[in-house]
Amino acid sequence: MAQNISRIAILPGDGVGPEVITQARRVLEWFVEHRTLAIEIEEAPYGIEAYHRYGAVLPEATRAAIERADLVLFGAAGRTEFDHIAADQQRTDSLLRIRRSVSLYANLPLYANLRPIKAQPALYEASPLKRRVLEGVDLIIVRELAGGVYFGEPRGIERLPNGERRAFNTQTYTSSEIRRIARFAFELARSRRSHVTSVDKANVMESSQLWREEVEALHAAEFNDVVLRHMYVDNCAMQLMRDPRQFDVIVTCNLFGDVLSDCAAMVVGSLGMLPSASLGPVENGRRCALYEPVHGSAPDIAGHGIANPLGAILSLAMAFRLSLERLQDANLLEAAVMHALDAGARTRDIAEPGASFLSCAEMGSAVLAALQRAATAS
Ligand code: NAI
Ligand code: MG
Repeated sequence: MAQNISRIAILPGDGVGPEVITQARRVLEWFVEHRTLAIEIEEAPYGIEAYHRYGAVLPEATRAAIERADLVLFGAAGRTEFDHIAADQQRTDSLLRIRRSVSLYANLPLYANLRPIKAQPALYEASPLKRRVLEGVDLIIVRELAGGVYFGEPRGIERLPNGERRAFNTQTYTSSEIRRIARFAFELARSRRSHVTSVDKANVMESSQLWREEVEALHAAEFNDVVLRHMYVDNCAMQLMRDPRQFDVIVTCNLFGDVLSDCAAMVVGSLGMLPSASLGPVENGRRCALYEPVHGSAPDIAGHGIANPLGAILSLAMAFRLSLERLQDANLLEAAVMHALDAGARTRDIAEPGASFLSCAEMGSAVLAALQRAATAS
């Protein structure tokens, strides 16, 4: 029987991006070899390295590779140097254009960013939270990714007549943008514990007032089987630390989702543990999708080979589940990661202070060994 071949574009990016993606790629290749996964991989430059080599953060060839691909696996982007480039562009007054044209997210119609966070007994010690707070935590943040203040216009930094500088950004949301992400969250909740917390700042922001009204209206019209509650973002940040078990699905705007997910990462002890999926609308039976760890380029540890690759590796498991229809492989990979952790595999970020730890590549090997064990056992 002929198999459908899926095309995967791999964009390692900057900083620790290439380090963690190298490990994710080893894992991907294990599935090609041992689980008859039929894929074609195209690796493409993106980020500061691409800027130096090809004069563009997102070179034309990379854009084309993304267009050809069924899914994108991405590392991370951004270095102090990139911020420098941006500053140069700012001087030539084209910062806005550059930022927009180089943002992967602005080039793909991805609107739903999923960030699952599940407490792992093996990592209770790595978390600053108490065991009784962590037990049973299983939540997912649905972050709106295509709108909000990160893309809103007008934006910029201007010089005022009195010589002072003034900076401004615009938080904007249309009712259809809000309903699109809210619908996604409600549907997702139905496959989980049917509980949605919509997070906003409706006490002070009009964009949040509209957010709340639209979420309410959609809920009343189509999803009243799902429990809905609203929460202000500042309270939500606190509640995530006080009692994260109260959450099932959290739906929120681009900015709040960005901040809250770093916060919620403490449930698993490190940002390096968290995977994410960014999904677009289904068009002609296809859904545009990008998978990446939640963390950034981590310039403070880049080049030392000590980054935790598990966020990137678990992003691959999300790709198996959400894009490739390889549910068994997704479960197999997640189980292998947990077995490696249960057996004591730790990178520095999740190791006990003073304890020895694995390098990024050694953690990749630990996951591969766990996969191998699972494969020979079955
Ligand atoms: P970051 O996520 O890169 O790092 C925050 C902290 O977490 C650092 O102490 C870092 O060492 C640690 N960390 C991150 N990933 C880790 C891993 N895999 N293993 C172990 N420790 C890890 O965020 P930061 O420092 O605020 O930003 C650095 C750069 O990354 C900036 O240029 C920022 O714009 C960019 N960034 C990019 C993102 C993306 O590509 N999706 C997301 C967030 C930030
Ligand atoms: Mg973030």
